[in-house]
Amino acid sequence: MLIFKTQEDLKKHLAENSPEKTTRGFVPTMGALHQGHLSLIEKSIIDNDLTIISIFVNPTQFNNHSDLENYPRTLEADVEKISTLNKNVIIFAPSVDEIYKGKTLAEEFDFDGLEHEMEGKHRPGHFNGVGTIVKRLLEIVEPTRAYFGEKDFQQLQIVRKMVEKTKLPVQIIGQPIYREPSGLAMSSRNTRLSESQKKEASFIYQTLKEVQKQFGIKNVAEIKNWVEQQFNNNPYFKLEYFEIADESTLKSVTTIENSKKYRAFIAVFMNEIRLIDTISLN
Ligand code: PAF
Repeated sequence: MLIFKTQEDLKKHLAENSPEKTTRGFVPTMGALHQGHLSLIEKSIIDNDLTIISIFVNPTQFNNHSDLENYPRTLEADVEKISTLNKNVIIFAPSVDEIYKGKTLAEEFDFDGLEHEMEGKHRPGHFNGVGTIVKRLLEIVEPTRAYFGEKDFQQLQIVRKMVEKTKLPVQIIGQPIYREPSGLAMSSRNTRLSESQKKEASFIYQTLKEVQKQFGIKNVAEIKNWVEQQFNNNPYFKLEYFEIADESTLKSVTTIENSKKYRAFIAVFMNEIRLIDTISLN
């Protein structure tokens, strides 16, 4: 398995080793790989001749310095996990300087309002950082398809919007959330939870499953009140937001139309660790 640290070496290798019709799958990650990432990589291996995985903790998408400092960095273990897949896979693990060339700044994007909802309200500048790095990586790797998990559903829709607007020739593929047996959505941040916190955190998914049952029976306001009560009564969490939103606009709704697709979105704190999850409602 090959690991490249510079754009130049990666591009040179790709130019010399992928004939014109070779399909390239791309899985961008920030490392601390878990089974959710591996399932994206496995899907890319099935769909494409060659798979490129980037491992890069992107500073411009962190709006909180301590979150950036504490983000797990486990390159050796990540490489080990990828090597067990034993397929035609390439890792791109650049330094911050290699990507930002001394100017660690995000571009400003207009994602037609998708960036102002939910995560956008609570993490100012986050999606400009995501847009900046994903665009740069897509320009470097020039993949046929790129794979993103649905846990960050807002990010997935924003990447789709960025690709539509920039006309980058890549197909964006969303993949279902990979969960622990308890239901907790897999996330690199889960490594910061203790075993007992992990057990308690399955409450998030249990609540979302209950929301799915209530959807269409209770109205949106009743469901939101119920969720707020659940979290107010649970000492382990602080609820940041719970929204029921239109899947395509990501705008919160108060009434439901049969022709539209809806999702519930949640962000909670367990001590200082922020966890998000989402579930499709219809
Ligand atoms: O979802 C992530 O891990 C990151 O936001 C991404 C897409 C790799 C960009 O840094």
